[in-house]
Amino acid sequence: MAIDYSSFIELGDLTDKNIGQLKLLNTSVLPVSYDDKFYQKILAAPFITKLAFYNDVLVGAVSCRVDPPVNAGEPQTLYIMTFCVLAAYRKLGIGKKLLEFVETTCAKNNYCKVTLHVQVNSDAIDFYKKYDFTIESTIQNYYRNIEPTDCYLMAKLIPVDPSAVTTTTTATNPAANNNNKNKK
Ligand SMILES: CC(C)(COP(=O)(O)OP(=O)(O)OC[C@H]1O[C@@H](n2cnc3c(N)ncnc32)[C@H](O)[C@@H]1OP(=O)(O)O)[C@@H](O)C(=O)NCCC(=O)NCCS
Repeated sequence: MAIDYSSFIELGDLTDKNIGQLKLLNTSVLPVSYDDKFYQKILAAPFITKLAFYNDVLVGAVSCRVDPPVNAGEPQTLYIMTFCVLAAYRKLGIGKKLLEFVETTCAKNNYCKVTLHVQVNSDAIDFYKKYDFTIESTIQNYYRNIEPTDCYLMAKLIPVDPSAVTTTTTATNPAANNNNKNKK
Protein backbone atom coordinates (compact mmCIF):
# COMPACT_ATOMS: atom_id res chain seq x y z
CA MET A 1 0.00 0.00 0.00
CA ALA A 2 1.31 3.48 -0.95
CA ILE A 3 2.35 5.60 2.03
CA ASP A 4 0.39 8.81 2.51
CA TYR A 5 2.85 11.59 3.31
CA SER A 6 0.27 14.38 3.27
CA SER A 7 0.19 14.77 7.05
CA PHE A 8 3.90 15.72 6.98
CA ILE A 9 3.42 18.37 4.30
CA GLU A 10 2.28 21.89 5.10
CA LEU A 11 2.02 24.95 2.91
CA GLY A 12 3.10 28.34 4.23
CA ASP A 13 3.54 31.93 3.20
CA LEU A 14 6.60 33.83 2.11
CA THR A 15 7.84 36.45 4.57
CA ASP A 16 10.89 38.67 4.82
CA LYS A 17 12.14 36.18 7.47
CA ASN A 18 12.10 33.06 5.27
CA ILE A 19 12.92 34.62 1.90
CA GLY A 20 16.60 33.69 2.34
CA GLN A 21 15.56 30.03 2.66
CA LEU A 22 13.56 30.31 -0.56
CA LYS A 23 16.58 31.73 -2.36
CA LEU A 24 18.73 28.85 -1.06
CA LEU A 25 16.15 26.29 -2.18
CA ASN A 26 15.71 27.74 -5.68
CA THR A 27 19.46 28.22 -6.15
CA SER A 28 20.21 24.63 -5.21
CA VAL A 29 17.50 23.12 -7.46
CA LEU A 30 16.81 25.35 -10.44
CA PRO A 31 19.18 25.81 -13.40
CA VAL A 32 18.49 29.55 -13.54
CA SER A 33 19.51 31.75 -10.61
CA TYR A 34 17.75 34.90 -9.50
CA ASP A 35 19.28 37.93 -7.82
CA ASP A 36 18.29 39.61 -4.55
CA LYS A 37 16.19 42.15 -6.45
CA PHE A 38 13.97 39.31 -7.66
CA TYR A 39 13.48 38.02 -4.11
CA GLN A 40 12.65 41.49 -2.77
CA LYS A 41 10.19 42.00 -5.61
CA ILE A 42 8.21 38.80 -5.03
CA LEU A 43 7.30 39.75 -1.47
CA ALA A 44 4.49 41.95 -2.82
CA ALA A 45 1.71 41.84 -5.44
CA PRO A 46 1.37 41.01 -8.30
CA PHE A 47 3.51 38.08 -7.12
CA ILE A 48 2.20 35.02 -5.31
CA THR A 49 4.47 32.53 -3.56
CA LYS A 50 3.65 29.39 -1.59
CA LEU A 51 6.21 27.43 0.38
CA ALA A 52 6.01 23.70 1.12
CA PHE A 53 7.37 22.38 4.42
CA TYR A 54 8.04 18.72 5.22
CA ASN A 55 8.20 18.32 9.00
CA ASP A 56 8.81 22.09 9.22
CA VAL A 57 11.73 22.02 6.78
CA LEU A 58 11.36 24.10 3.59
CA VAL A 59 11.57 21.60 0.73
CA GLY A 60 9.53 23.11 -2.09
CA ALA A 61 8.06 26.32 -3.40
CA VAL A 62 6.19 27.94 -6.23
CA SER A 63 6.36 31.62 -7.19
CA CYS A 64 3.92 33.09 -9.67
CA ARG A 65 3.09 36.43 -11.18
CA VAL A 66 -0.35 37.70 -12.07
CA ASP A 67 -0.28 38.88 -15.67
CA PRO A 68 -2.73 41.40 -17.06
CA PRO A 69 -5.15 40.35 -19.79
CA VAL A 70 -4.10 40.71 -23.39
CA ASN A 71 -7.31 42.63 -24.18
CA ALA A 72 -9.57 44.70 -21.94
CA GLY A 73 -12.34 42.59 -20.48
CA GLU A 74 -10.44 39.32 -20.67
CA PRO A 75 -9.41 37.58 -17.46
CA GLN A 76 -5.94 37.83 -15.97
CA THR A 77 -3.58 34.87 -16.13
CA LEU A 78 -1.03 33.37 -13.76
CA TYR A 79 2.56 32.78 -14.80
CA ILE A 80 4.72 30.30 -12.85
CA MET A 81 8.17 31.88 -12.50
CA THR A 82 9.80 29.25 -10.29
CA PHE A 83 8.61 25.85 -9.11
CA CYS A 84 10.72 23.21 -7.41
CA VAL A 85 10.95 20.49 -4.80
CA LEU A 86 14.26 19.34 -3.29
CA ALA A 87 15.36 16.08 -4.97
CA ALA A 88 15.22 14.04 -1.77
CA TYR A 89 11.60 15.02 -1.19
CA ARG A 90 10.20 14.36 -4.67
CA LYS A 91 7.40 11.90 -5.49
CA LEU A 92 5.82 12.46 -2.08
CA GLY A 93 3.00 14.64 -3.35
CA ILE A 94 4.61 18.02 -2.60
CA GLY A 95 4.64 19.27 -6.20
CA LYS A 96 1.04 18.18 -6.62
CA LYS A 97 0.05 20.11 -3.49
CA LEU A 98 1.79 23.25 -4.74
CA LEU A 99 0.13 22.92 -8.14
CA GLU A 100 -3.25 22.48 -6.45
CA PHE A 101 -2.57 25.74 -4.62
CA VAL A 102 -1.83 27.45 -7.96
CA GLU A 103 -5.01 26.17 -9.56
CA THR A 104 -7.18 27.00 -6.53
CA THR A 105 -5.73 30.52 -6.56
CA CYS A 106 -6.70 30.83 -10.22
CA ALA A 107 -10.21 29.54 -9.62
CA LYS A 108 -10.75 31.90 -6.65
CA ASN A 109 -9.49 34.94 -8.55
CA ASN A 110 -10.76 34.11 -12.00
CA TYR A 111 -7.34 33.81 -13.58
CA CYS A 112 -8.17 31.91 -16.75
CA LYS A 113 -4.85 30.33 -17.56
CA VAL A 114 -1.59 29.14 -15.97
CA THR A 115 1.53 29.46 -18.11
CA LEU A 116 5.20 28.66 -17.61
CA HIS A 117 8.45 28.19 -19.48
CA VAL A 118 10.36 24.95 -19.10
CA GLN A 119 13.65 23.83 -20.60
CA VAL A 120 13.04 21.38 -23.48
CA ASN A 121 14.93 18.57 -21.72
CA SER A 122 13.32 18.99 -18.29
CA ASP A 123 11.80 16.04 -16.40
CA ALA A 124 9.16 18.47 -15.20
CA ILE A 125 7.48 18.47 -18.65
CA ASP A 126 5.88 15.09 -17.93
CA PHE A 127 4.83 16.26 -14.48
CA TYR A 128 2.99 19.22 -16.02
CA LYS A 129 1.49 17.02 -18.76
CA LYS A 130 0.15 14.69 -16.08
CA TYR A 131 -1.84 17.65 -14.77
CA ASP A 132 -3.18 18.59 -18.23
CA PHE A 133 -0.72 21.28 -19.20
CA THR A 134 -0.01 21.32 -22.93
CA ILE A 135 2.89 22.66 -24.94
CA GLU A 136 1.78 25.85 -26.69
CA SER A 137 5.02 26.62 -28.46
CA THR A 138 8.78 26.11 -28.54
CA ILE A 139 10.91 29.19 -28.02
CA GLN A 140 14.43 29.01 -29.35
CA ASN A 141 17.30 30.59 -27.43
CA TYR A 142 15.08 31.55 -24.52
CA TYR A 143 17.85 30.88 -22.00
CA ARG A 144 21.11 32.73 -22.22
CA ASN A 145 23.38 30.86 -19.82
CA ILE A 146 22.19 27.26 -19.71
CA GLU A 147 22.07 24.41 -22.21
CA PRO A 148 19.83 23.57 -23.95
CA THR A 149 18.79 27.16 -24.54
CA ASP A 150 15.36 26.30 -25.95
CA CYS A 151 12.19 26.10 -23.88
CA TYR A 152 8.57 25.15 -24.18
CA LEU A 153 5.78 27.51 -23.28
CA MET A 154 3.30 25.29 -21.44
CA ALA A 155 -0.21 26.26 -20.42
CA LYS A 156 -3.35 25.03 -18.76
CA LEU A 157 -6.75 26.69 -19.09
CA ILE A 158 -8.71 27.23 -15.89
CA PRO A 159 -12.50 27.60 -16.07
CA VAL A 160 -13.57 31.10 -15.00
CA ASP A 161 -16.84 32.74 -14.11
CA PRO A 162 -17.29 35.33 -16.92
CA SER A 163 -19.50 37.55 -14.74
CA ALA A 164 -16.63 37.99 -12.27
CA VAL A 165 -14.14 39.26 -14.83
CA THR A 166 -13.32 42.95 -14.46
CA THR A 167 -13.14 45.09 -17.55
CA THR A 168 -10.05 47.02 -16.52
CA THR A 169 -6.68 46.40 -18.09
CA THR A 170 -4.45 46.01 -15.06
CA ALA A 171 -1.38 47.18 -16.90
CA THR A 172 1.08 46.20 -14.17
CA ASN A 173 3.30 44.44 -16.63
CA PRO A 174 3.60 46.12 -19.99
CA ALA A 175 5.55 43.17 -21.33
CA ALA A 176 2.82 40.67 -20.53
CA ASN A 177 2.06 38.05 -23.15
CA ASN A 178 5.28 38.60 -24.96
CA ASN A 179 6.87 35.15 -25.07
CA ASN A 180 10.31 36.54 -24.45
CA LYS A 181 9.49 38.78 -21.55
CA ASN A 182 10.95 36.36 -19.03
CA LYS A 183 14.10 35.66 -20.98
CA LYS A 184 16.69 34.30 -18.57
C1 LIG B 1 8.55 18.81 -11.14
C2 LIG B 1 8.60 18.70 -9.62
C3 LIG B 1 8.22 20.03 -9.01
C4 LIG B 1 7.60 17.62 -9.15
O1 LIG B 1 7.56 17.62 -7.74
P1 LIG B 1 7.19 16.32 -6.87
O2 LIG B 1 7.02 16.76 -5.47
O3 LIG B 1 8.16 15.24 -7.10
O4 LIG B 1 5.79 15.88 -7.50
P2 LIG B 1 4.69 14.98 -6.77
O5 LIG B 1 5.34 14.03 -5.83
O6 LIG B 1 3.63 15.84 -6.20
O7 LIG B 1 4.09 14.18 -8.00
C5 LIG B 1 2.71 14.14 -8.27
C6 LIG B 1 2.50 13.12 -9.37
O8 LIG B 1 3.30 13.47 -10.50
C7 LIG B 1 4.22 12.42 -10.80
N1 LIG B 1 5.49 13.03 -11.17
C8 LIG B 1 6.32 13.74 -10.39
N2 LIG B 1 7.39 14.12 -11.10
C9 LIG B 1 7.22 13.63 -12.33
C10 LIG B 1 7.99 13.70 -13.51
N3 LIG B 1 9.13 14.35 -13.55
N4 LIG B 1 7.51 13.09 -14.61
C11 LIG B 1 6.33 12.42 -14.61
N5 LIG B 1 5.55 12.32 -13.50
C12 LIG B 1 5.99 12.93 -12.39
C13 LIG B 1 4.35 11.62 -9.52
O9 LIG B 1 4.73 10.29 -9.78
C14 LIG B 1 2.94 11.73 -8.97
O10 LIG B 1 2.10 10.81 -9.65
P3 LIG B 1 1.09 9.83 -8.84
O11 LIG B 1 0.22 10.76 -8.03
O12 LIG B 1 0.38 9.12 -9.91
O13 LIG B 1 1.98 9.00 -7.98
C15 LIG B 1 10.02 18.26 -9.15
O14 LIG B 1 10.39 17.08 -9.84
C16 LIG B 1 11.11 19.29 -9.34
O15 LIG B 1 11.31 20.17 -8.50
N6 LIG B 1 11.88 19.21 -10.44
C17 LIG B 1 13.04 20.06 -10.63
C18 LIG B 1 12.72 21.51 -10.82
C19 LIG B 1 11.94 21.77 -12.07
O16 LIG B 1 12.20 21.20 -13.12
N7 LIG B 1 10.95 22.65 -11.93
C20 LIG B 1 10.12 23.06 -13.00
C21 LIG B 1 10.71 24.23 -13.69
S1 LIG B 1 9.46 25.05 -14.60
